[in-house]
Amino acid sequence: MCGIVGYVGPREAQPILLEGLRRLEYRGYDSAGAAIAQDGVLHVRKTVGKLARLAESLQADPLRGHTGIGHTRWATHGSPTETNAHPHQDTNGHISVVHNGIIENYVFLRAELQAEGAVFRSETDTEVLPHLLRRYYTGDLLAAVRQALEQIEGSYAFAALAAEHPEQIVFARKGSPLVLGLGQQENFLASDTNALLPFTRRVIYLEDGHHGLLTADTCQIYDAGGTPVAAAPSEVQQSAAAAEKDGHAHFMLKEIHQQPEVLRHLLLSYAPEHGLAQTHTAGTSIQFPGLGVLEQRLTEIHRIVIVACGTAWHAGLVAKYLLEPWARLPVSVELASEFRYAEPCLDARTLVIAVSQSGETADTLEAVRIARKFLAPVLGVVNVPASSIARAADGLIYLHAGPEIGVASTKAYTAQVTALTLLALHLAQRRGTLPQELMAERLEALRQVPGQMQEILQWSPKLDALAGLPAYKNASHAMFLGRGCNYPSALEGALKLKEISYIHAEGYAAGEMKHGPIALVTEELPVFCIAVQGSVYAKTLSNIQEIRARNGRVLALATEGDTQIAASCHDVFYLPPCPEPFSPLLAALPLQLLAYYIALELGRDVDQPRNLAKSVTVE
Ligand code: M6R
Repeated sequence: MCGIVGYVGPREAQPILLEGLRRLEYRGYDSAGAAIAQDGVLHVRKTVGKLARLAESLQADPLRGHTGIGHTRWATHGSPTETNAHPHQDTNGHISVVHNGIIENYVFLRAELQAEGAVFRSETDTEVLPHLLRRYYTGDLLAAVRQALEQIEGSYAFAALAAEHPEQIVFARKGSPLVLGLGQQENFLASDTNALLPFTRRVIYLEDGHHGLLTADTCQIYDAGGTPVAAAPSEVQQSAAAAEKDGHAHFMLKEIHQQPEVLRHLLLSYAPEHGLAQTHTAGTSIQFPGLGVLEQRLTEIHRIVIVACGTAWHAGLVAKYLLEPWARLPVSVELASEFRYAEPCLDARTLVIAVSQSGETADTLEAVRIARKFLAPVLGVVNVPASSIARAADGLIYLHAGPEIGVASTKAYTAQVTALTLLALHLAQRRGTLPQELMAERLEALRQVPGQMQEILQWSPKLDALAGLPAYKNASHAMFLGRGCNYPSALEGALKLKEISYIHAEGYAAGEMKHGPIALVTEELPVFCIAVQGSVYAKTLSNIQEIRARNGRVLALATEGDTQIAASCHDVFYLPPCPEPFSPLLAALPLQLLAYYIALELGRDVDQPRNLAKSVTVE
């Protein structure tokens, strides 16, 4: 949700800011801008639309100078116009600010500042920041920032530049991520490490309340009370290439194709092959080194609450279908955005699991903070190391999926489901609720999933062809149905389709169809039905018949060897046979690919769909 970058050093700032913004564009892409200080003047350029427009403008007429800040925006306050784009300036253009987050008391501050003579140009909350800094500025921008921080409420990561001090960038963070990058006689800042990788791997993750000042040779950090912080830099391991498309047309396609590898890596990390034999004996095959103190508390817990948003919430829903029968624990799966405003019943024996790819989703992070207030142990299932949720949780399961850049979550989803599946087995093992033989069988079947995913990916051309059929690509609405652990698959399939193709789609538990949604069925409505072999197969088949009886068009995901289903459906895509609990992992791929190819047919911007941003760091 908005990306910010900053550079101070001997090099020209413009190309560094542009490369950093390119790597942050997944966070927001409705406008972009940069401010660069030179000769006592702040030169600002802003454009509406994708970063490419800013790059074109800067190429045609470059901004020169060695200190600069940049921004890529996901609009919250004020529509995506050039005036609303960041950086924002104070009245006389001597102070410039880029910001990620929301200044909640901006209406009050704006009125106050306007009464003092400040001239506001935009409709944004952010613009109060440069005016506030101007109010307190007497030649020391850091001191002005400290005073401004006392006035503002909300969440922020911001960077500011003053024309008088082209050798400095000041910054502050609360509630939105900010990372400093340390170079040789040059320093950087950014919303995440992706933006820093081409330039440096030595980074400092700032904590809430941290603020400070960067010059080419120095990096001063202070905590909320103004005490200097001696933060030790960490070394980022991720390769810069991990955030590139590697020859794929889109990040989403690359990430879909990475899934077998991601799952293999997860299994290798938490359930190494040699563990299979141990399962029969010592029962120690699944290990999560990141659980830390939580490991000891696992046997005490009497309930699990999973909090997450969007696709991560769907992964949590799948997990409920495994955790309850295997570990014999009641599980509730909560939308973090609702949970945070409810009055949750939590205690020290309720394990709260926060699932999040980015580890920065504002609602999920707040749910974690609430859980901690109730002294509930918190387990983070996250993909981004050192993210806010990773740092706030008591224990961690990392997804090791590598950067997910496509806005539509794909590999993170199957990694989340796999990690939670392993957790379910681990808990069952610790609690003695699943026979060892069954556990070994399950693990063995889970290890087959990456290979089966690879088989499915080989059938991509078939899905591409299906996506090209007018019945699917020209539909205005679509329905996704599934039962049991594939009810969340239906929700996820619908979410993928709507977010990247803009076709209205809804997922339902197939058994609920006759309670209302069946009224929507006509020959115009494609129904994507997950009908794999398992405990609810026969019931799902009946639901398909009910749709067919009303002229609905059905595309089923079925299991290879199913000789019945083709007669009842217009189209069938077959998945390799696997135990029912793992079928959501396989079903996810054709659903992702169908959404991808339909979106391509419709000429949509697959990686950067309209109105969305990858990381939702505002409420
Ligand atoms: O980073 P998180 O996993 O916390 O993100 C949660 C949702 O914002 C995310 O899954 C979103 O729904 C995706 N666009 C879905 O594809």
